[in-house]
Amino acid sequence: MLAAVALACPLSADGTAEARPLTAAEALGLAKRHDRKARRFEKLSRREVGRARKALAHKSGAPMAARPERQPKLKARSHRRKAKRYAAKARWHRRQAARLRRLAGGLSKVPPPPVLRRAPIPLGAAVAWDEFESDHRLKDTFLSHFDQMTPENEMKWGHVHPEILHWNFTTPDAMVDWALAHGKRVRGHTLIWSKQNPSWVENGTWTRESLLLVMKNHIKTTIAHFRDRVHEWDVVNEAIDFHGGWTDNIWYRVIGPDYVDYAFRYAHEADPHAELYYNEQWLDVADHPHSQGVIELMRDLRNRGVPVDGVGMQAHVTTQASGSQSQVSELMGRFTELGLDVAITEMDVRTEGSDPSAERETQRSVYGAYARACRLEPRCTSFSTWGVADPYSWYEDPALAPLLFDGDFNAKPAFHEVQDWIRTP
Ligand code: XIL
Repeated sequence: MLAAVALACPLSADGTAEARPLTAAEALGLAKRHDRKARRFEKLSRREVGRARKALAHKSGAPMAARPERQPKLKARSHRRKAKRYAAKARWHRRQAARLRRLAGGLSKVPPPPVLRRAPIPLGAAVAWDEFESDHRLKDTFLSHFDQMTPENEMKWGHVHPEILHWNFTTPDAMVDWALAHGKRVRGHTLIWSKQNPSWVENGTWTRESLLLVMKNHIKTTIAHFRDRVHEWDVVNEAIDFHGGWTDNIWYRVIGPDYVDYAFRYAHEADPHAELYYNEQWLDVADHPHSQGVIELMRDLRNRGVPVDGVGMQAHVTTQASGSQSQVSELMGRFTELGLDVAITEMDVRTEGSDPSAERETQRSVYGAYARACRLEPRCTSFSTWGVADPYSWYEDPALAPLLFDGDFNAKPAFHEVQDWIRTP
C-alpha cells in the first residue's frame, strides 16, 4: 500500500521512490519541494496580475499599433489568463504538499510538523481619534500591541467633505501623521458607502453624469491628499445586500451598478500604486447568497479589468454565529483564486451567552479561527479588529465585550491567540 502511495507521489519520478515505500523524512522533503514550486507559481501569478494591470494603465499612454483601443484590454486578458493558470498550478502543489505532510504524519511515530507559517502579518485596529486623545490607556495599548491603524470614522465622506466646497482633513491628517511617526501603517476607510454621507450628497438633485463627477472629485481629492502616506484603501463598502442583490443607495439608484467600476477606476487613477479593496460585511461562509453575490461581483470586476486588488472581510461576528476556520479559509480561497488579496478588516466577537468565562473561551476560539485562516492564506495581507478595548467598542452595550482588551485594558485570551497567529514569526 505504501508503495502505491510512493508511486502516486508526483515528484517521485526518479525511480527510487517507486521501488520502495517513502519514509516520513522523504515525504517531508517532497512536501518542501512542492511548497517551493507553489511559491514560485504564486510569484509568477502575482507578476502576471501586475502586468495585466500595467497593460490597462497604458490605455491613455502612448498609441499602440493596430486597433489601439482594444490592445491593452486583450493584453490584460492574456496576462490574467496566465495568472490564473499559474495560480491553479500553485494550488495543485500546495495540495500535494499537504497530502505528503499528512502521509509523513501517519508514517512517523513523532507528531506531524507544524504547518509552515509565512511571515507575520500586521495586526490592526480601528481608532477613534477623540477617544485616543481623551484616554491615554487606549493609545498606550495600541502602541504596544498593534501595527496598523484604520480611522474609524474620520476619513468618511461626511467628515472630510461635509459641504460641497468644504474639505476638512485636519483630524485624519493628525491621525495618519501620528501613526506613521510611531511606525504604524494606515488603512484608508472608506471612500464610497451608503452611510455617513453628508446631506448635500444624499439629498442633492443628481443626474448620472453629475453624480459621477462628484464621486470622481471626492475619490481623487481624498486619495491624492494622503497619497504618500496611505497605500491601502477601502474604495467601496457594502455594495451587496444580505440576499446577494445590490444595496439600495444613492450611487446605485442614480448611477447604476457600474458605480463600483467607476469608483475603482478613479481611485486607481489617483494613485496607481495603492492597494484597492472592496470591503464587505457577512463574509464568513462561502455557501450563502450574500457571499455568492460578492464573489460574482468580484469575478465580474476582474473579468472586465477593473483595478480591484483585494476583498476586506469585516467579520463582525458573535460567539453564537461565526464561520469556522475551514469555512473562512474556503471563502478566502474563492477570492484568491480570482487573483485577489484578502484581509480581515473589522473583526469583533460579541459575547452573547450568560457564562462570562465560557464566553471568553468561545471568543478566544472564534478569533483564533479567523486569525488561523488569515495566517495560513498566503494572500491574507492583514488582520484588524474594530477597536482596541471593550469600553470603546462601537457597540454601545458593554456586556457584549467584543474586543481583544477588556475594561481594564488587560489582554484577553483572544488577544494572545490572535497575537500568536498573526504577529509571531
Ligand atoms: C461604524 C463606526 O464604528 C461607528 O462609530 C459609526 O457610528 C458607524 O460606523 N462597517 C464599517 C464601518 O465599514 O465603517 C462601521 O463603522 C462599522 C460597520
